[in-house]
Amino acid sequence: MPRVQEKAKILESHKEAEGTYRLVLYAPKIVPTARPGQFVMVRVASEGADPLLARPFSFHRLHKEDGLCEILLRVVGAGTRLLSQRQPGSSVDVVGPLGRGFTAPTRSDETVVFVAGGIGIAPLRALLDHLLATTHKGHPERLHLYYGARSASELIALHDLKRAGVVSVVSTDDGSAGERGTVLDAVQKRWNASSQMPNRLYACGSLPMQVNLARWVRRRDIWVEMSLESMMACGIGACLGCALPAVDPEDPQAQRYLHVCQDGPVLDPKRIRWDKVQPLIARPLISASL
Ligand SMILES: Cc1cc2nc3c(=O)[nH]c(=O)nc-3n(C[C@H](O)[C@H](O)[C@H](O)COP(=O)(O)OP(=O)(O)OC[C@H]3O[C@@H](n4cnc5c(N)ncnc54)[C@H](O)[C@@H]3O)c2cc1C
Ligand code: FES
Repeated sequence: MPRVQEKAKILESHKEAEGTYRLVLYAPKIVPTARPGQFVMVRVASEGADPLLARPFSFHRLHKEDGLCEILLRVVGAGTRLLSQRQPGSSVDVVGPLGRGFTAPTRSDETVVFVAGGIGIAPLRALLDHLLATTHKGHPERLHLYYGARSASELIALHDLKRAGVVSVVSTDDGSAGERGTVLDAVQKRWNASSQMPNRLYACGSLPMQVNLARWVRRRDIWVEMSLESMMACGIGACLGCALPAVDPEDPQAQRYLHVCQDGPVLDPKRIRWDKVQPLIARPLISASL
């Protein structure tokens, strides 16, 4: 997969929800080969400031014919704050497309569930757009989106997906919008009682969400891919900083690692040693709802 570095022009910047911004980038060298689930490293140094490391962001929406992509960003630290303050007309250094994207279904009769926790909606939106334009064109009712956040102010509006016919269930931890509870509560409420499971499930969200979801799907016959997060310094396999403990199919006791930037970020949860990942939850996370 060709990896390109280019100066991408910021065409638009919009505040979409509390602490959440959507940037439209003109990146005509990167966008044509980009796929849903892949990501870009964006260098976010402001002029005159110490250069900050590049930060990873998933493709939120891809507009290939125009060389445009959108990224959705949640402000958590210096890098995302600087990026959220960038004005249209300025440029950022971008490297991509990086990593392994989602494996899209090939059949329109598959029921596909999307589970998005907070900013985890970012990569799932690109995949939803893709399926609405390809396999599931004419069958949007087979696409089910579960989208949860801590409260209503953190939800981005997804009216166009509802208008397109995607089945959407919103949940908030505090009950200020949609169903009260976690996004996993909403998934379980619908599917625990069902005699038929969805064919596929795609998920992105906080580590606690992914751990609990991985536990839920393990006992069910569903094909699953998750877009996973880890700390990334380089994004290209050079620093080994993004390692996650992995299952070795030949020796379950062996210590193996997957590198999220190259083996992922989209991975089959069965490949991860979730029991070893769990202690990482004690670390401060990007946000409780990510
Ligand atoms: C493949 C991938 C795709 C991503 N896509 C998006 C996206 O589409 N939108 C979005 O808003 N964010 C996304 N992120 C997360 C985003 O890259 C981080 O929020 C960003 O790097 C934080 O940079 P910062 O300089 O603002 O914060 P920093 O100052 O670097 O960090 C602030 C705090 O967040 C913690 N932190 C930073 N990055 C991570 C991480 N990856 N995992 C856990 N904790 C972290 C730090 O330990 C610290 O406590 C993605 C991450 C990965 C790995
Ligand atoms: S981020 Fe450097 S190896 Fe993955």
